[in-house]
Amino acid sequence: MDAREMKIKAAAAALEHVEDGMRLGIGTGSTAEEFVRLLAEKVAGGLKVEGVPTSERTARLCVELGVPLKSLDELPELDLTIDGADEVDAALRLVKGGGGALLREKIVAAASSRMIVIADESKVVDVLGRFPLPIEINPFGQVATRIAIEKLASRLGLSGELRMRMSDDGVFTTDGGHLILDASFGRIPDAEALASALNTIPGVVEHGLFINLASLAIIAGPAGARVMGAKN
Ligand code: A5P
Repeated sequence: MDAREMKIKAAAAALEHVEDGMRLGIGTGSTAEEFVRLLAEKVAGGLKVEGVPTSERTARLCVELGVPLKSLDELPELDLTIDGADEVDAALRLVKGGGGALLREKIVAAASSRMIVIADESKVVDVLGRFPLPIEINPFGQVATRIAIEKLASRLGLSGELRMRMSDDGVFTTDGGHLILDASFGRIPDAEALASALNTIPGVVEHGLFINLASLAIIAGPAGARVMGAKN
């Protein structure tokens, strides 16, 4: 089974949790896009759902494939969000934001009764931090914000390069008009402490540590899909 087939397997297993009439948060990234494709087939077959996309990119795909969309302001309380992840540990703590949509992804996940993560086995880690941690920052005062992050990391015993995310057109800008620093801290033994500390820096808009948000992870490997953890 290749990587794409594993993503489709995880997405198909998540689709079984989708019921008629649900208000759905719809994630961003290649795995979430497989979910959108499968969801669109169900919608074409008569399933009634309303989706809130977590990025402009996901919104475009949903529109193209005929998945009905609403804004989060129109549907501020969601039944279920289905999204990918860059890393997931045994406690269902996540690193997200590899696709740059972490702020909207976190807002949508927090507005949902449940969040199901879909991923392939390569995303499962013992300790978060193998994947650089995306930190979304306001462009105003970005140098001061970078210094504040470095000092904070050092106090927590973490170090590593903070790399400004770039795109083909120059500096990468999120859907919200912010920048992303990818922090190569390596192992993050206390993700809760780092998450809380980052939230105290005014120039940090959000970070990619998703803690206490995922209810379930569906992990696809060569032998099929397995389920990790169940918060509710
Ligand atoms: C988007 O910002 C991310 O949080 C994605 O959910 C994450 O990067 C997983 O993407 P893939 O499914 O493409 O690996």
